[in-house]
Amino acid sequence: MADRIQLLPDHIANQIAAGEVIQRPASAVKELLENAVDAGPTSIKLFISDGGKSLIQVIDNGAGMSETDARMCFERHATSKIKNIDDLFQIRTMGFRGEALASIAAVAQVELTTKREQDEVGTYIEMQNSLVIKQQPVAAPTGTSIAMKNLFFNVPARRNFLKTNASEMRHIVDEFTRVALAFPGIFFSLTNNGQQLFHLEEGSLKVRILQLLGNHYNAKLVSLKEETDYLNIYGFAGKPETAKRTRGDQYFFVNNRFIKSAYLNHAVTNAYQDMISPDSFPAYVLFIDLDPAVVDVNVHPTKQEIKFEDEKIVYAFIQAAIKHALAQFSITPTLDFNLDASIQELDAIQKPFTEDKQTATRSSSIFQTFTEANQAHKIELGKDDDLRHWNEYKRSAQTDQNERVFSLTEIPEGLPNAQNLFHSELGNAKPVQLFNTYILLTVSKSFLLIHQQSAHERIIYERLTDALNGKTIATQQSLFPAALELAPSDAVLLTELLPDLLQMGYSIEPFGKHRFLIQGTPADLQAGNESQMLEKIIEQYKNFTPELKLSNREMLIRSVCWQQAIKSGTSLSEKEMQGLINDLFQCKQPNITPNGKPTYTDFKKESLEKIFGR
Ligand SMILES: Nc1ncnc2c1ncn2[C@@H]1O[C@H](COP(=O)(O)OP(=O)(O)OP(=O)(O)O)[C@@H](O)[C@H]1O
Ligand SMILES: [Mg+2]
Repeated sequence: MADRIQLLPDHIANQIAAGEVIQRPASAVKELLENAVDAGPTSIKLFISDGGKSLIQVIDNGAGMSETDARMCFERHATSKIKNIDDLFQIRTMGFRGEALASIAAVAQVELTTKREQDEVGTYIEMQNSLVIKQQPVAAPTGTSIAMKNLFFNVPARRNFLKTNASEMRHIVDEFTRVALAFPGIFFSLTNNGQQLFHLEEGSLKVRILQLLGNHYNAKLVSLKEETDYLNIYGFAGKPETAKRTRGDQYFFVNNRFIKSAYLNHAVTNAYQDMISPDSFPAYVLFIDLDPAVVDVNVHPTKQEIKFEDEKIVYAFIQAAIKHALAQFSITPTLDFNLDASIQELDAIQKPFTEDKQTATRSSSIFQTFTEANQAHKIELGKDDDLRHWNEYKRSAQTDQNERVFSLTEIPEGLPNAQNLFHSELGNAKPVQLFNTYILLTVSKSFLLIHQQSAHERIIYERLTDALNGKTIATQQSLFPAALELAPSDAVLLTELLPDLLQMGYSIEPFGKHRFLIQGTPADLQAGNESQMLEKIIEQYKNFTPELKLSNREMLIRSVCWQQAIKSGTSLSEKEMQGLINDLFQCKQPNITPNGKPTYTDFKKESLEKIFGR
């Protein structure tokens, strides 16, 4: 048989490799902003058109590139940031792989203009399909402008995967927020379709946070600063009252790089224990600076996950630092460190880090292990104690996921069909509530066990689906409209959802940049904390797993449904139970929840008789 293996042509190999780095417009924005930051500018401007699909442009006034570098920068593995593998563990720059521009040039048309301070003229280069199609000298200010046009013009399959402009824009705002938060010393602006969304003068971290996350945090942030030999932590954490129902405002930066870490997030949440309700999320913007030698940044294509040499130490420090900060501002009455004693005793945790403290700290046993090279930096914690909370959290997060993120399981077999039920009997039967979760109802020769939350989910689901198909839901106007302040990307999301929410009976109006006024809610909904209610809907909407491939509307319906449903554990009056039962059996498909769980089950009298041998 003839040999079959062939080398892929360069431009195809590049396109495939690009898939790792550039998945959507927001990933290109992240790469371009990070390149700009690495060039040491005082100003970075981002311009977007059509959700980044037609244009993403970043202009900085940083170092610029020579003519040769301007050509080189589009080559794969071309970087000025590392020279050998050891440098990987000394990284202070955002970039290091030399892949971003090569990837971008493989999947978009790129125009680069760049000039260094010392050069008279700059260089202009146009790229298409990874090839230079034009190059000429150009008069330009010092710095670099990179415009990428028509993302995925040559990879239609990928282009088809892009979401609506508004949805892509939301991700772009997220990336912009992350970079702009990490560098308050640099001016940033973001202009979308000609309209400036952000204009952030250089200033303090606090001001930057307020500009990006909203002024409502003013006077509601406590500052944090702990310095030790092993790591420094600084930033701000929200006072407990700012905790939200959505995960929006949580930011970790390690050596200025935004990272995602459920583990470290748990350290923060744990420090807030008993101060906020378990289903709310504290806001924080935390910077962890430590020797790049003890973090591996090269574990994930988007660099948003990193590996610490010893994650437990970082966990312990974060938790302690947050507790300390909250205690200093008298938010917790006592210091309740649930930590290894040697960490509690560290001066760095207890007091400001003065010269004498430094000497004292250095002599503490734990610090000796921190600072000795090649040590496995271990804290000796109680046997199962160390990760107990984390494991509990993981478990609860998992069940939570299962419960909240609907899965499309098959309709269970063997469930009674609504038609088989004796409608006339339902009205007369007397319901009894069990465990504040189930409703027991005897009808003729069987009894039903109804799961109140599942039943209510079904009822609301059908009501909302009807509403989106044109059946009106009455709105109850609020006497005092509630204000809702959101993280920028959540605000973009909510704006996108407003028309559908209106049809579902919510009357919400934009009010300022990231603010909304909730003027009314569906009439048959129990009045309550409207802003929290919406935050929960947004949080649920964002958490659908992409594998489910639900339409945006379906996701919205299910999110609202989940939020509005009477929860297990809620005590119901007889009248409420009767209402629920009636509504359930008027549904088109009363026997399952939107995600396919049973809403009730029935037991025949005969089966009981069998059990008792009668
Ligand atoms: N805005 C810019 N100003 C000056 N030089 C730049 C700019 N953008 C890119 N470069 C140069 O081009 C090189 C290649 O950039 P690219 O983003 O592809 O790789 P990188 O930043 O080194 O690594 P990574 O792939 O991890 O981002 C950089 O190393 C840098 O020297
Ligand atoms: Mg880069």
